[in-house]
Parts: sequence; structure tokens; C-alpha cells
Amino acid sequence: MTSSHVPATAPVEPIGVAVIGAGYWGPNLVRNFQSSSAFRLRWLCDLDVDRAKRVLGGYSTVQTTAELDEVLADDQVQAVAIATPAGTHLPVSLAALRAGKHVLVEKPLAASRAEGRQLVEEADKRGLTLMCDHTYCYTPAVLRIRELLHAGELGDVHFFDSVRINLGLVQRDIDVLWDLAPHDLSILDFVLPPGVRPVAVAAHGADGIGAGRACVAYLTLQLSTGAIAHIHVNWLSPVKVRTTIVGGSKRTLVWDDLNPSQRLSIFDRGVDVAAPDEIGDELRRDMLISYRSGDMVAPALTEREALRTMVEEYARAIRTGTPALTDGRAGLRVLGILEAASRSLANGGTMVQFNEEEV
Ligand SMILES: NC(=O)c1ccc[n+]([C@@H]2O[C@H](COP(=O)([O-])OP(=O)(O)OC[C@H]3O[C@@H](n4cnc5c(N)ncnc54)[C@H](O)[C@@H]3O)[C@@H](O)[C@H]2O)c1
Repeated sequence: MTSSHVPATAPVEPIGVAVIGAGYWGPNLVRNFQSSSAFRLRWLCDLDVDRAKRVLGGYSTVQTTAELDEVLADDQVQAVAIATPAGTHLPVSLAALRAGKHVLVEKPLAASRAEGRQLVEEADKRGLTLMCDHTYCYTPAVLRIRELLHAGELGDVHFFDSVRINLGLVQRDIDVLWDLAPHDLSILDFVLPPGVRPVAVAAHGADGIGAGRACVAYLTLQLSTGAIAHIHVNWLSPVKVRTTIVGGSKRTLVWDDLNPSQRLSIFDRGVDVAAPDEIGDELRRDMLISYRSGDMVAPALTEREALRTMVEEYARAIRTGTPALTDGRAGLRVLGILEAASRSLANGGTMVQFNEEEV
């Protein structure tokens, strides 16, 4: 036989995966693993096994169980994806890592930073992939924002302003910060250029309806460059707003997630200050400020489900042994900011500094 008959590379076997949790979010993971050639879905596990069966439908060959141990004992399962409530992320993820499985865990990585750290350390020790599903980071809009910021297209970041408000489901166990801000914080973490990071946070909140927890909250973050980020999350707004503005020294970007025909707009508009010869001369300084009014460009974005890209990234991280774009450490940084924000909220909005290792 000549070498031309030998395949250049052996076919790559799909990664055996199990989804744990078949509630609201789990079925989205099931659908995306089933449509990915990189994975073969082998199990759907839920304490309510009937729910798992209903999600799969009558003709599925995917196995169902209420017993996590049964899934973890299966050698054909190399990876799990965990979509159970946040309070269970630590025990379920730890058990999976200890059984030698790669772990994708839904946001938030865990219920506290200390728990998240345990997961990161366990995965590191075993050389396994630990990834957190920060879904928004895999939307075409956020991937483009990251590209633009990392390439310096907006110049230095001056401000990041995010509004995520609507009539939201008032959660029983967590306040609006822990419910909604993980999205904005994970996006901020994902798009900021290398070397720029939050260094302190102040949080203010209010519980106007007597729910027993903040239903409206404002987060202000200081960035290491002196720039500022602001996040507004709110369950009580009758109008829905999902808008993020990133102001840079060269351009300003507006992301309106509720406008599918023009999610991103990049404005070549802004304020320029010519370097004053004499700093401190107020009058002269005023005269040196000028306003730029250039074009607005709306970049074309492909429509693609974020979870499809997220699932591909999980496969890539497992196969290459390199960290996922939203790895366990990214999940940990978000938890660090949330915990500091909660401390600030409890102290009437004082600014809480992070130490190096926290973010
Ligand atoms: N990425 C996103 O945009 C997004 C959106 C919604 C929810 N989530 C996250 O997904 C996770 C699940 O949220 P949800 O809204 O689907 O919750 P849910 O309560 O609707 O579903 C959770 C399911 O997990 C099952 N379960 C609980 N403990 C279990 C265990 N030990 N073993 C097996 N099954 C168990 C429950 O029976 C339930 O069916 C949360 O971490 C949440 O933050 C992420």
C-alpha cells in the first residue's frame, strides 16, 4: 500500500459529554452539544429524572439518571457540563473533577470566591479543563468588541457604561447584583485590553418594594488606568434596556443588544484636548478642547448562537489543554468583584479596593 492511502490524520473521536441539570438552562446545553460534531452527548442527569426524559424526548438514545455517580463512573464520559443551581456548583463540579472529568460550569462559577478557588485549584492539580459559561462573551457582538478593544481601535478606554434593566423576576435567594451583574462583569473582564483591570468597586442599591434584598443597584469600578466603569442593574424597570457604551480616546462604541439590525455602532466622535503648553492655565486649557464629529460605522455581524461558539471553545480547550477564553480564573475574577461589591453595598457604598490576586 502506498502512503497516499494512509489518512493524513486519524479521525478525531467526539468527546463524550454529560449534562447535569435539565431545568431552565440545561436544555440549551443539551441542544448545542447534540448539534456539535466535537461532542457526543451520553447522559442527561437531573434529580428529577422524568424532567430529563422529557427534555430528550421519546426517541433519544442519550441515557438519563438521577445519580451523578452513575455518570461519573462511565469511562466514555470525558467531560461534563453543569447547569444546576449555583449553590450546588461546588459539590457537583468537585466530584466531576475528582473523577477525572473536564468541567464546564454555568455562571456563576460557584456561590462564593472561596468555593470558586477550590475548583480552580482542583482542576489545576489534575490538569483538567475548568470553564465557566459566561454566555454573553460568545455573542458575535461581544467577540467583536473584544477584538476592537484589543486591537486598540477605540484607543485608550475612557469609560465603560452598561445598563441592564427590565421588569425582572425578583429572585428569592440573591439580590439583583448577583443575578444580573455577572453578565456585565464577565463582559467587562472579557473585553478590557490586556493590562487593564478593575482595582476597586463601590456599590449602591435599593429595595423599594420591600423584597428583602436590593432590586436596583449601581456599581462603579475604578480601572487600573484611572478609567471608570459603571453598571446599572434593575428588576423594577418597566422598560427593557440592554445598552453598553465603551468610550475610547479614538472612538466610542455603542452596543444595543435589543436592536438586531444594528447591534454595534462605532462613532468617530469625541472630545480632543490639545496638550496645553502651560498646565494649570484654566483659560488656555478651556480653549484647547475641541469636539470631533466624524462618521458612524455599524459593523456587520454574523448571527450565530453564542452557546454554539461556547461549546466549540470548550472542545478546543479540552483538546489543546490550553485555558478556555472564559476559564475558571475568569469565573473567579467575577466572583471576586461580586463579593467586594456586596461588602460595599453593606457598608453604604464605600469604595472597596481589590488586592492583586483578587482580580
Ligand atoms: N448562561 C446563562 O445565560 C444562564 C441563563 C440561565 C441560567 N444560567 C445558570 O444555569 C444554572 C441553572 O439555572 P436554571 O435556571 O436552569 O435552574 P433550574 O432550577 O431551572 O434547573 C436546575 C436543575 O438542576 C437540577 N439539579 C439540582 N441539583 C442537582 C444535582 N445535584 N444533580 C442533578 N441535578 C440537579 C434540578 O432538579 C433542576 O432541574 C445556574 O447556575 C444559572 O445561573 C445561566
